Formats: sequence, structure tokens, C-alpha cells
Amino acid sequence: MNVIEVKDLIKKFDTKKVIDNISFEVAEGNIFGFLGPSGAGKTTLIKILLGEYSATKGIVKVFGKKPENYSDEITNSISAVMDNFGLYERLTVYENLEVFSNIYKADKNEISSILEKVEISDSKNQIVSKLSKGMKQRLMIARALLNHPKLLFLDEPTSGLDPATSLKIHNLLFELKNNGTTIFLTTHNMEEATKMCDNVALLHLGKIVEFGTPKDICMRNNENNTIKIITKNNKEIILKNNKENASKIAKMFEQEDVLSIHSSEPTLENVFIKLTGKELV
Ligand SMILES: Nc1ncnc2c1ncn2[C@@H]1O[C@H](COP(=O)(O)OP(=O)(O)O)[C@@H](O)[C@H]1O
Ligand SMILES: [Mg+2]
Repeated sequence: MNVIEVKDLIKKFDTKKVIDNISFEVAEGNIFGFLGPSGAGKTTLIKILLGEYSATKGIVKVFGKKPENYSDEITNSISAVMDNFGLYERLTVYENLEVFSNIYKADKNEISSILEKVEISDSKNQIVSKLSKGMKQRLMIARALLNHPKLLFLDEPTSGLDPATSLKIHNLLFELKNNGTTIFLTTHNMEEATKMCDNVALLHLGKIVEFGTPKDICMRNNENNTIKIITKNNKEIILKNNKENASKIAKMFEQEDVLSIHSSEPTLENVFIKLTGKELV
């Protein structure tokens, strides 16, 4: 089943076309990555899917319904973690979740286990304004989990966070996925996308320029198709990946001369730079 369907979507702000005729689907239980540099239209797309912005043209559906027809059941099974914090700065971590569990009519008894899940239990009595960015981000995720969402949107969830905090968030997202949650995340971090996502769409000038699994995208864009061998005396040998070179490579192994061997497919970041001519920022 597809949780998200987008067909021929166009979004203009006045005359400026930010999203230019894109179509894609997100299957249930997948982690889908929407990738692009800042200003590419990632946040705009999430807001359209949430029903906060209307589409200029085209169709978007979540759980089979257009945003104007979202039932309470659909609204209650979606959560979003956006970059505007929207937390009560003067309340504690715990009090924040208490307030939101009232708003969402969620079970207050679960607050402790959710705090544990995002690993901020030790800070539950801290005032939010004193928290680091990484702690606030994890509190935002905790808030988003109060309603046990079937679909979770995360807008640049690890942007500006240290590697250890990012890793905690990645592990939590994998755990949610294993429990059947569909996750839609945006990022400009291609390493994160490669690690996390079942499918990604690369966005450039409002259009999807590549779509698929990170691995397939890298394989498709592997124009050189070479193999690089570093020998034990540190010589670098680059060979075409073909039948003719098989015996040459086998011989190096027989002579125990191989220190390392790598195929030449590019990283997702290199693919993006090739397709867009742009560095990701
Ligand atoms: N409410 C808005 N009104 C006018 N222009 C907007 C609005 N929201 C976003 N934009 C413009 O749309 C483009 C895409 O923005 P955004 O979706 O925030 O990109 P991203 O999240 O990929 O960085 C930008 O040029 C931005 O200035
Ligand atoms: Mg954004």
C-alpha cells in the first residue's frame, strides 16, 4: 500500500515555481528521503502533504485522501518534526510532554517510556530554554511520538547536530520503521540518506532528477565502472571492470599482492553534484 501519492504536483509562490511537476509514491513502512540543497522546496512539500499549503496543480494523497478530506483518524496518525521548535520554553521537558499529551489526548503514562526511547529521561526536569539543540530536537521527536504516528515527517532531523546525537536519532528511526511506521524525511546530508532511506528522490530546480534506492542510483551513475587496487607496495592500479582484466586481478590475489580493492561507483553526494552541478549546502 502507498501511504503517500504525489502526482504532477506544481507549487508556485506568486509567479515563482518552487515545485515543478513532480510525481512519486511512498510505500507503507518505508523510510523515504527527499533530498536537495536549501531552497529546493523540501519544507514546502512537507507543508503541502500536511495540508498547510495548497498545491497550485496536481494531486497529493496521504492514506488515500486529499488534504482537504483528511479525516480525524488520518490527522491523528500523522506527526511532523519541523525546524520551528514550537516548544514551551519556560516549562520543563516533562511538562512540555504533559501539555502536548493533553492536546493530543494521548496517554500520560507513556511519557516516561517515550523520554527513555529518545534518551532524554535524565533531563526531564530541565527547563526547555536551557536545552542544547540536540536535546530540543529529541524532545520534538518525543512529542511527535505521543500519538503513535503511522506516518512521521521529519524536516532535516539531524541538521546541525553532533554525530553521536545524529546516531541516536538514526537508531530511533530504524526502530520506528521496524515497528511499521512510514517515515518521510528531508535532508541535505547524502550520507544520512544512503544509510537511512529505502528510496530517495533528488530534487533540483523543482524537479526530481533521480529516484530510487541509494544503491541503484549510485550504480546507474557509475560511468567509469573501474576497479581500484592498491598493492602491498602502495601502488594504485585502476582497471576496467571487465572479463579481460579477470586474470590480471586473480594473479594479484594469487601473489598476495592486494592491500585493498574497491569498485568505482560514486557516492550519492557525487551523483548529486554531477546531476545538478551544485554542492549541497
Ligand atoms: N510561504 C512562502 N512564501 C513565499 N515563498 C516561499 C514560502 N515558503 C517557501 N518559499 C520559497 O520557496 C523556496 C523553497 O523553500 P523551502 O521549501 O523552504 O526549501 P527547502 O526546505 O528545501 O530549503 C524558497 O525559494 C523559498 O524562499
Ligand atoms: Mg527546509
